[in-house]
Amino acid sequence: MKRFLIVTAVVLSLVGAVAAADERLAAKPYVPGFGEFMAGTQVRHAKLWFAGEAENWELAAYEVDEIKEGLEDAAKLHPTHKGVPVADMIKSSLDAPLAELEAAIAAKDKSRFARAFDGLTSACNACHTAASYGFIKVQRPTMAPVSNQVFTPDGK
Ligand code: HEC
Repeated sequence: MKRFLIVTAVVLSLVGAVAAADERLAAKPYVPGFGEFMAGTQVRHAKLWFAGEAENWELAAYEVDEIKEGLEDAAKLHPTHKGVPVADMIKSSLDAPLAELEAAIAAKDKSRFARAFDGLTSACNACHTAASYGFIKVQRPTMAPVSNQVFTPDGK
């Protein structure tokens, strides 16, 4: 009888522990890793290029906004990544090139856009190097990242 009671107590406490762990998991919201934000940024970076190439300035402005929003969330959720102060680095390296892109887009100036895009790309790569990820290099895309989105603006 005593043995039965002990076994029952152990089983009950295990069930309780599992239930508590389940609750903690359910209560904790999913936080995408820093690399997930970067993968999202990569797609926007590519779409941005094709939007500019097609002189679809509305879409280009939208993609710049999306890049900014994604990186703001990344910075909020990951002030540091593996001991590297990525939030501060994103701000100090990308604020100026993103502002220049916005200016080029507002001016609907395709060659200024191309220069600004390259400026952003260099800043992305410089931060990778500074964060000890110099092996991750981005460039002007040679192919649209997706085939199911139209980059040319209406009426063109
Ligand atoms: C803090 C400086 C920093 C800036 C600015 C930055 N990155 Fe990153 N990036 C990182 C780090 C750190 C990683 C590695 C993340 C990890 O460990 O998963 C990364 C990873 C990546 C990856 C690899 C993702 C994968 O899953 O293969 C790509 C692509 C990338 N970044 C693109 C960009 C682009 C495009 C920009 C500019 C618009 C940019 N990054 C700006 C720090 C930065």
